[in-house]
Amino acid sequence: MDKFRIIGGRPLEGRVQVSGAKNSALPCMAAALLTAETITLHNAPYVRDIITMRRLLEDLGSTVLVPELRTLKISAHKIELFEAPYDLVKTMRASVLALGPLLARFGQARVSMPGGCAIGQRPIDLHLHGFEKLGARVSLEGGDVVARAERLRGAEVYFDKVTVTGTENLMMAAALAEGMTTLFNAAREPEIVDLADLLNKMGGRIEGAGKSTITIEGVRELGGAEHTIIADRIETGTFIAAAAITGGHLDIVNCSPQHLAAVIDKFRETGVRIDQPNAFSLRVHKADHIGSADVTTLPHPGFPTDMQAQYMALMTMAEGTSIITETIFENRFMHASELLRMGARIRTSGRQAVIDGTGHLMGAKLLASDLRASASLVLAGLAAKGETVIDRVYHIDRGYEKIEEKLRAVGAKIERFR
Ligand code: EPU
Repeated sequence: MDKFRIIGGRPLEGRVQVSGAKNSALPCMAAALLTAETITLHNAPYVRDIITMRRLLEDLGSTVLVPELRTLKISAHKIELFEAPYDLVKTMRASVLALGPLLARFGQARVSMPGGCAIGQRPIDLHLHGFEKLGARVSLEGGDVVARAERLRGAEVYFDKVTVTGTENLMMAAALAEGMTTLFNAAREPEIVDLADLLNKMGGRIEGAGKSTITIEGVRELGGAEHTIIADRIETGTFIAAAAITGGHLDIVNCSPQHLAAVIDKFRETGVRIDQPNAFSLRVHKADHIGSADVTTLPHPGFPTDMQAQYMALMTMAEGTSIITETIFENRFMHASELLRMGARIRTSGRQAVIDGTGHLMGAKLLASDLRASASLVLAGLAAKGETVIDRVYHIDRGYEKIEEKLRAVGAKIERFR
């Protein structure tokens, strides 16, 4: 198993490039199942989850060509299987994104029911309820969700809770349904807008993506399209945190600052100076002093849960006390106990963490528990005195493209070893 060794205490300096958004590329890849024609995706990040999704599409019978690094040409003209098996769903929950497209195009889909994971229970009841509203029959057979329908019919779907992949699954299913679908209380994440853009290029008729009410006029068939995946806003935010926590100065390029207004705002509140030289880059200046600021995670456009762990790492180095309230997932403070081992002062209770910033961390041996928790440990390692060794970095490889190479190029002392 790979590990990272980090010697902390070096300010990062230079220019770092952001990759495509994993959480946008995954639904866009699943959307290729909606058509027999080829979908070409550019700027797909080279990360483990994308390789897993590629394997799922290939197992179903699609061909996936990679004419150049980060471009995927997906052709689902010959689908032979309509199921995502347990071994794939357990490694990547986003496999459930195959449900909507398979059901809409082939009238059947079987996906192993995802279990709880490191950050919470994460049920998919809202996806299933939505499919039922569109006329599907949904049942649980031997631990698998089985959905069947002749042709889906447009309907009004009210989400009890904002769900990102739920909104994506329903948008894809409704794109081929008969008639009009309206999604109320839909997720408004930039990844939803990116998927809607792709679906519309394929001949879909979707309006309102990015707002909480989305309307989808179903069409009989969707066709091929070419699309460039948006920049990863969470990777961007992680680099802002990396500059801030090391007292460094970074130019972050190929990003979309408009997608992380709440994150930029929060970092500024703590004293980090961030400029936006143009629409695609950010400049983080050396901060003389990091103050504390409370934060509550919320669905977009609020502060994203996927930045909570990284922000906590920064708060351990800040002056003063901060309170982090996690409202999206019920168990997303796994990084806190690892940060404690580095000398941080954190108390967690339910959905709240109280952090007394001490201004220093000590290197330690750490265990990564999930993707964003791993990122926070890397940040803490970069700021800590001495050596930090992080085990189970396969978690970080799921969603960050070559993070150690990107960090090394801007002055970090970080290496991967077995
Ligand atoms: N929920 C339900 N029922 C459902 C669906 C969701 O109760 O049917 C609950 C969840 O348990 C959670 C909340 O609703 O408490 C929000 O979950 P959501 O469905 O929005 O999460 P997701 O779609 O499974 C995506 C991202 C996550 C990100 C969340 C929240 C992808 C592939 N994953 O997950 O990304 O944290 O939205 O923004 O898009 C990550 O990249 O590290 C990651 C975990």
